Amino acid sequence: MATTPTPDTESTTPPTHKPLARSVVLVGLMGAGKSCVGRSLADILGVTFVDSDLEIEKAAGCGVTDIFDVYGEPAFRDCERRVLRRILNDAPSVIATGGGAFMDGETRDAIKALSTSVWLKADPEILYKRTKRSTHRPLLQTEDPLRTLKKLAEVRYPVYAEADITIETGDEGLEATVRAVTARLETAATFADT
Ligand code: S3P
Repeated sequence: MATTPTPDTESTTPPTHKPLARSVVLVGLMGAGKSCVGRSLADILGVTFVDSDLEIEKAAGCGVTDIFDVYGEPAFRDCERRVLRRILNDAPSVIATGGGAFMDGETRDAIKALSTSVWLKADPEILYKRTKRSTHRPLLQTEDPLRTLKKLAEVRYPVYAEADITIETGDEGLEATVRAVTARLETAATFADT
């Protein structure tokens, strides 16, 4: 099991903002754009980008689908909890979480205590359009993935709403979403006073 945190992307751009005082954690359903938005945001903020699913895969030595198939969802959630606790205690970064991470009470408490959380909110129809060709999301390997997304939204959206910041996303494109997140972070207690 790998234990050393390894950022997925080292930022190459000089930061245009004050240093981050705490991590920024992106939450939301599958297809919300957490990884794409996270990578771009990390670059702008001059910090590393960490994808919690990739960290879980490194720790487990196999892909998310295999973890679900071989060990089951509870084992995945357990690993997710431990990996996120480690990442959150590391230097401030931008962290994209898997869609179920914020649903775990312990992980949610840690995210609330140690980071600024951002929910990328989108309609299930939009999420369906973005995920319909994906084969690496075990929860969407159902007969009717749109219905699955709608059901997940019903259960999860009231919990995601506990995030510090909510950004509504639609068809506006990556840059506009990143701009919206950055603007909201300016008014949250995210940056160090210099
Ligand atoms: C999950 C979302 C996935 C991944 C796993 C479970 C979920 O991540 O963590 O398949 O419970 O919503 P993405 O949200 O990045 O697709």
